[in-house]
Amino acid sequence: MPSTPVFKLILSIFFTSIIIPSFSCPLHQKQALLHFKSTLTAIYNSKYPVKFVKLDSWNSTSDCCSWKRVDCSTTGSVTELQLSYVAAPPPQNFERLNISSDILTPLFHIRSLEWLDISLNFFEEGEIPGDGFGNLTKLLHLDMSWNNFNGSIPSQLFQLTNLRYMAMSYNNLEGRLGPELGSFRKLTTLWLSNNRFQGPIPAQLFALESLQDLDLRYNKLGGGISPEIGRLTNLTFLDLSSNQFTGPIPSSMQNLSKLESLSLDDNMFAGEIPTWLFKIRTLKDLYIGGKGSKLIWNNTTKVDPRCSLQEISMTSCGISGQIPEWISSQKELVILDLSGNKLEGRFPHWLAEMNIQSIILSDNNLNGQIPPRLFESDRLEILDLSRNNFSGELPENIGNTTSIIYLAVSENDFSGLIPKSISNLTGLQLLDLSRNRFSGNLPVLGADYLDLSDNDISGKIPANFPERTKILYLGGNKFAGSLPINLTKLVNLRVLDLRNSIITGNLQDILPQIPTLEILILRNTSLNGFIPNNISMCTSLRILDLSRNNLTGSIPRQMANLPLMSASSIPKDDLNEDRLQDLIVNWKKSSQRLHNLRFYVMLDLSGNNISGEIPASLGNLKALQQLNISHNKISGNIPLSLGNLVRIESLDVSHNQLSGSIPQSLGQLGNLTILDVSNNMLTGKIPRGRQMDTMNELSYFQNNSGLCGMQIKITCPGDIPSLEGRVEEEEDLSWMFWEGTWIGFPIGFFSTILIMNFSIFGKNFC
Ligand SMILES: *[C@@H]1O[C@H](CO)[C@@H](O)[C@H](O)[C@H]1NC(C)=O
Ligand SMILES: *[C@@H]1O[C@H](CO)[C@@H](O)[C@H](O)[C@H]1NC(C)=O
Ligand SMILES: *[C@@H]1O[C@H](CO)[C@@H](O)[C@H](O)[C@H]1NC(C)=O
Ligand SMILES: *[C@@H]1O[C@H](CO)[C@@H](O)[C@H](O)[C@H]1NC(C)=O
Ligand SMILES: *[C@@H]1O[C@H](CO)[C@@H](O)[C@H](O)[C@H]1NC(C)=O
Ligand SMILES: *[C@@H]1O[C@H](CO)[C@@H](O)[C@H](O)[C@H]1NC(C)=O
Ligand SMILES: *[C@@H]1O[C@H](CO)[C@@H](O)[C@H](O)[C@H]1NC(C)=O
Ligand SMILES: *[C@@H]1O[C@H](CO)[C@@H](O)[C@H](O)[C@H]1NC(C)=O
Ligand SMILES: *[C@@H]1O[C@H](CO)[C@@H](O)[C@H](O)[C@H]1NC(C)=O
Ligand SMILES: *[C@@H]1O[C@H](CO)[C@@H](O)[C@H](O)[C@H]1NC(C)=O
Ligand SMILES: *[C@@H]1O[C@H](CO)[C@@H](O)[C@H](O)[C@H]1NC(C)=O
Ligand SMILES: *[C@@H]1O[C@H](CO)[C@@H](O)[C@H](O)[C@H]1NC(C)=O
Repeated sequence: MPSTPVFKLILSIFFTSIIIPSFSCPLHQKQALLHFKSTLTAIYNSKYPVKFVKLDSWNSTSDCCSWKRVDCSTTGSVTELQLSYVAAPPPQNFERLNISSDILTPLFHIRSLEWLDISLNFFEEGEIPGDGFGNLTKLLHLDMSWNNFNGSIPSQLFQLTNLRYMAMSYNNLEGRLGPELGSFRKLTTLWLSNNRFQGPIPAQLFALESLQDLDLRYNKLGGGISPEIGRLTNLTFLDLSSNQFTGPIPSSMQNLSKLESLSLDDNMFAGEIPTWLFKIRTLKDLYIGGKGSKLIWNNTTKVDPRCSLQEISMTSCGISGQIPEWISSQKELVILDLSGNKLEGRFPHWLAEMNIQSIILSDNNLNGQIPPRLFESDRLEILDLSRNNFSGELPENIGNTTSIIYLAVSENDFSGLIPKSISNLTGLQLLDLSRNRFSGNLPVLGADYLDLSDNDISGKIPANFPERTKILYLGGNKFAGSLPINLTKLVNLRVLDLRNSIITGNLQDILPQIPTLEILILRNTSLNGFIPNNISMCTSLRILDLSRNNLTGSIPRQMANLPLMSASSIPKDDLNEDRLQDLIVNWKKSSQRLHNLRFYVMLDLSGNNISGEIPASLGNLKALQQLNISHNKISGNIPLSLGNLVRIESLDVSHNQLSGSIPQSLGQLGNLTILDVSNNMLTGKIPRGRQMDTMNELSYFQNNSGLCGMQIKITCPGDIPSLEGRVEEEEDLSWMFWEGTWIGFPIGFFSTILIMNFSIFGKNFC
């Protein structure tokens, strides 16, 4: 994983122990430290009910050299300060504390400091206090990562020419990396990842011949890599991933004979992937290819590795043919990611026997059955075979891989029953069996994220899922029956998709009891009855699709009380984006892929037997981007209040029995791009103004009782005449169907899991 240094960092923070020295520290240094502590304590205690305890041992009666997080030289002056994660909020109350980095000022008087770690304090945004750091000229080790420093690297920092270790990762630093970097002549570690640095790597950086660890990932650096990089012969760790580097991989890198970890993925490198990479004997982790990459694997080359790799990620490298057999020589392999290539043939038996922890082969053309041997592994944690042509049944012994946490075989040609033994996989966080031909009844199974959509699974609508279930994608199967009451026990459920099932019974008993639901898709489920008045108890709903059912009655005016739909700003949502990526919407004849689901708010009641009038209260749903009530039996006028739907982009009221005129208030809607009022009994002038003036799709106005306006080139009585014209066009049926699909991104997901396991800061890490 490219995230290795992060874990190293975290580990070093939590497991570094401090040594007790024998001399007492100078008074002025002790006072500086006490000053720091008292400022911090005051701020902390004013913000949190929790008492500040982190610097408990720092008291005025004892020798500061005996304090925790402090270390002194043999002569008694303070040389080391371990202040990582001291100014950060308590984990149960994760909110930025916004302490100014001014709090560091007293520390800048401790000139004897050689080792200073202030990482993970998430200081209030502001620039690095260059004046202060510039005074600490004895520093050998400086760690400022995971704060909110912005601006560029201050020039005073380059006075710290003794530095061996410099970490500034995970800040908001920007600007070019200047030639001044060359002044850190003794540097062995440089971590600048996850900032916004841009421009090329200065040649002076490649003159830092003592460098062992260089981490520049997740910046906006670009240009070619100079062959000078070959001078860094002591490098063991090099991560340039997720930048915009171009050109070939310089052949001088063959000189990096101590390299253990090399990450070049997600750049725009081009050319052939050099096979000398595999001759670097020390190499353990190789990440290459990825999005944006133009690197090509030469199919004809024979690889005879001299390295023993533990992690191989060669995604989107154009590798064709069978899964390369040289991989079988890599006996220590832990992670294999060959997704997005052009691999063909079967899942090799030798691969199943390698007991690898993570196997990601998604987006290839592999076929055949999965060898049961794979599931005899007690190490397998991640298996992603999505989007290949694998077929046959899932092996019956799949339940033997009890360590598995991520299992995705979506979009293959698997068939048959889902093996019963899958019930034994209780550690699953993600299970994605969607878009295959699995049939029969569902065994008991569970995962936080469960996608079974678009198979032929039958039986009652299942609900015996574990309580931790968050996402349930069950649509496109042959489930039938009533909505099980046990669904209300899923207190973490946020997404429920049951489209194309047959649901009998009423919504009102179940739905309001799942207040956590954010996305509910019950399209084409033969629902009868009314939309319950108490639907507004679903206080988290953002996306509701009840289209193509047999709902009767009228639209309850209480619908307008749905808090997230009526919010005045985009509702904040913490559905993990790594797991929920795209939602594909069929909109008219084109299918549209919605990224970032958390930004969408929609209501679709089309294709039912809903009657009555449009409640004026619907104008409250200010967050709505799409409203579709077409193909119903709704009568009366279009309420003026719909002009309050400021975010609405698409409004479809077609195929109803609406009469009166289109309210002029719609002319205020600046985000409206689609308005379909066709097949009603509307009359009068189509409103003008802003977006309305651009609505010239004739079919969206046709079959009414006398609309006029410039949009359809029909002059209204009293207007200045213009060209006339009318186009009769067949309107297709309900215009907005949507199909949802979630595409998990295994790497992102995996790192999320790992970070969750460290579970201190949650999602704010990435
Ligand atoms: C001060 O700290 C020392 C050791 O860190 C401890 O032994 C002592 O009891 C503390 N004194 C007070 C007043 O807290
Ligand atoms: C810190 O600042 C952020 C953004 O300005 C704000 O959302 C947050 O509430 C602040 N935290 C505290 C503890 O005041
Ligand atoms: C840095 O040192 C200079 C003198 O050497 C002093 O005037 C200045 O106050 C110091 N700055 C800080 C922030 O300690
Ligand atoms: C850094 O952040 C602070 C506070 O948000 C802002 O006032 C300042 O302009 C920023 N500096 C730079 C160089 O972006
Ligand atoms: C490279 O590492 C070796 C062994 O750790 C060390 O002796 C040598 O001085 C280093 N080279 C440079 C240029 O720092
Ligand atoms: C490797 O083979 C694939 C398909 O057979 C082809 O598209 C690709 O261009 C070949 N690559 C090279 C470098 O020859
Ligand atoms: C692939 O490698 C072979 C042998 O090294 C070479 O002859 C050939 O030109 C390369 N093919 C491409 C497309 O670069
Ligand atoms: C699962 O593993 C156990 C122990 O290794 C073995 O006895 C059993 O036969 C396996 N089950 C299947 C279905 O392969
Ligand atoms: C689940 O595991 C238990 C214990 O290892 C085993 O006895 C049982 O047969 C397994 N169930 C299935 C359906 O494989
Ligand atoms: C509903 O849940 C209860 C207890 O949690 C369980 O005993 C029962 O079998 C479940 N019913 C269904 C149909 O899954
Ligand atoms: C739809 O509902 C109406 C009224 O409840 C009923 O008469 C009709 O049979 C239903 N149609 C279907 C297809 O269920
Ligand atoms: C579009 O919607 C946004 C809310 O997302 C709103 O702030 C903005 O005013 C709307 N634009 C126009 C032109 O009405």
